[in-house]
Amino acid sequence: MKNVLITGGAGFIGSNFVRYLLRNEPDLQIINLDALTYAGNLENLSDLPNIERYTFIQGDICDFSFVKQTLEKYQIDTVIHFAAESHVDRSIVGPASFIQTNIVGTFNVLQAAYNTWSKSENKNNFRFHHISTDEVFGSLFSTDPAFTEITPYDPRSPYSASKAASDHLVRAYYHTYGLPITITNCSNNYGPYQFPEKLIPLIILNALQGKHLPVYGDGKQVRDWLYVEDHCEAIHLVLKKGKLGETYNIGGENQPTNIEIVNMICKFLDELKPASSPYASLIEHVPDRPGHDRRYAMNIDKIKNELGWSPKHTLANGLRETVEWYLSNIDWVNLITSQNNYQNWLNKNYQNREEIK
Ligand code: NAD
Ligand code: TYD
Repeated sequence: MKNVLITGGAGFIGSNFVRYLLRNEPDLQIINLDALTYAGNLENLSDLPNIERYTFIQGDICDFSFVKQTLEKYQIDTVIHFAAESHVDRSIVGPASFIQTNIVGTFNVLQAAYNTWSKSENKNNFRFHHISTDEVFGSLFSTDPAFTEITPYDPRSPYSASKAASDHLVRAYYHTYGLPITITNCSNNYGPYQFPEKLIPLIILNALQGKHLPVYGDGKQVRDWLYVEDHCEAIHLVLKKGKLGETYNIGGENQPTNIEIVNMICKFLDELKPASSPYASLIEHVPDRPGHDRRYAMNIDKIKNELGWSPKHTLANGLRETVEWYLSNIDWVNLITSQNNYQNWLNKNYQNREEIK
């Protein structure tokens, strides 16, 4: 790795990864290409030192010639592809941008990478790494074993279907053209700089504002949660030691229900920022998400046994750190929530939940 293109590096995981890579790979040139949609914000990177080996470029991965020129101009040898539309609820309300960015956009990035790689004199030093999700595997019953890398794909939302399509395209470029790829499928992330449309930051911010804490349906859906820094470490390891053409599952090895997560957040807030009544009194069950996946669980034996990775944060300490981070970064929160039609999204998603169906 010398010249790394990170797509979507102004979003939640991408910005944490840019920071992680700058810290851990002092000789790399990092190019961050991001369209700065509602979910991408340069404020997520405002603490970066002004250094020559980091460049930000605003642009859309759906624009093939722009992506191709960027790869050529910066002599990219490693592409780490985060850019995506990432929120399931938005994919239910408006799937079109998910098809464009996640499928057509990924195709463009792959094709541009293929052009660069096929002309390269140093083919062995090229890599396309694709960031994907556990949601491509579908929904588990409570007694089902966790997803492994060979669990058949069974996506059930427009978001997960578009990510599944992108995974298939990435594998097709490996098998058909020999493009050196790796893929990671990760469970739900949480941590600093997550846009407050996702469960954990939304609950923290609503609680701080004394608003209801919306829990979809019975709140007994199960997710596997991973602290974002652990995800960054796993991606870095797969880049360094992963086998070409392979997929690695990444997860936090925990199985809380949503209502348990919400109660944990309330307890941390009761301790760190006590209010007149316990925050849990704000919990409100609201109509369920259509097609809501009941349970995700990740079997991470492969990355553990082959690459020696396992998560460093427990759910309790990761969640506490996250609550503390949001409490000490209220300026970031205020800025993010004052932009990007954030309030419009809240109105659309929470005031008209039954109409979404
Ligand atoms: P995010 O929504 O916070 O960030 C996405 C970024 O992509 C934003 O900066 C946005 O501006 C950029 N982007 C969107 N469309 C673009 C386009 N057409 N061209 C260029 N840039 C564009 O997402 P995230 O939570 O950081 O997720 C990053 C990746 O990780 C995604 O591929 C997602 O599917 C995957 N993933 C996320 C999670 C999770 O829990 N958040 C879990 C597993 C996998
Ligand atoms: P989310 O953070 O949107 O991630 P994903 O849908 O990709 O898993 O949601 C996590 C879980 O929390 C999911 O089961 C939906 C649920 N949820 C709520 O109960 N209330 C909310 O307001 C949100 C945003 C999510």
